[in-house]
Amino acid sequence: MKQMLIAGNWKMYKNLTEAVELAEIISRWVEANRPKSTIEISPPFPFLHPISKIIEGTMVKLGAQNCHYQPEGAFTGEISPSMLASVGCQYVIIGHSERRTFFKEDDILISKKIHAVVNYSLKPIFCIGETLDERQNNLTYKVLERQIQTGLTNLQKEFIQKIVIAYEPVWAIGTGISATTEQINEAHEFVRNLLVELFNDEGRKILILYGGSLNSKNAKEILSLPNVHGGLIGKASLDASEFIKIIEYAEQSH
Ligand code: PGA
Repeated sequence: MKQMLIAGNWKMYKNLTEAVELAEIISRWVEANRPKSTIEISPPFPFLHPISKIIEGTMVKLGAQNCHYQPEGAFTGEISPSMLASVGCQYVIIGHSERRTFFKEDDILISKKIHAVVNYSLKPIFCIGETLDERQNNLTYKVLERQIQTGLTNLQKEFIQKIVIAYEPVWAIGTGISATTEQINEAHEFVRNLLVELFNDEGRKILILYGGSLNSKNAKEILSLPNVHGGLIGKASLDASEFIKIIEYAEQSH
């Protein structure tokens, strides 16, 4: 059976009331339908604690969208992995292209964050992906290889199973245009082979999600691909019925 993870990245959207309402609808649906897929939501930081109370005791998992790599310290405005764990987070999105682009996060910083996250018993949803320019210059696989090799460098064996990879071509994020099934298949296969090269059999078990304009219209086709183990969903995760439709397609793809 194919393991599936459907993760919602709420980015910098919603106020408290809206966020709570969305979490309530999703958790109610999940409890009523008990999907085989793992369902995760990553709301903005201020909503993590209130939402942790809403989803407590349900199958919905909580994640953050970023963190610092130090356990604590004089880092004004930052949030540590241990703080996230203390409010009930189990996942943290690391290395999202918006963090790489707008906040200048590089592969080395991302690697530090991944190591910090696994040390606090959290699972990183480690985002990788090429820009349009890189794809057009045939650099896609070079970029993916560099991102994975640096990001996961010196990762201890016991932590390999905590890693989730999200292949998110930068040009497909928030554009309404997802990658084609051929592009997704090829990239996921490349990533899988690289993970097996790096971690042997352990590398076979790492979940590889697709992200980039995944929605209820393309989810059926994309999630049914053999190498796709779920999705990291931005825009479509902000609407409960869209998100639930995607979960339903994931349920058909195990
Ligand atoms: P999108 O975002 O689904 O809105 O393209 C995906 C992401 O940024 O993770």
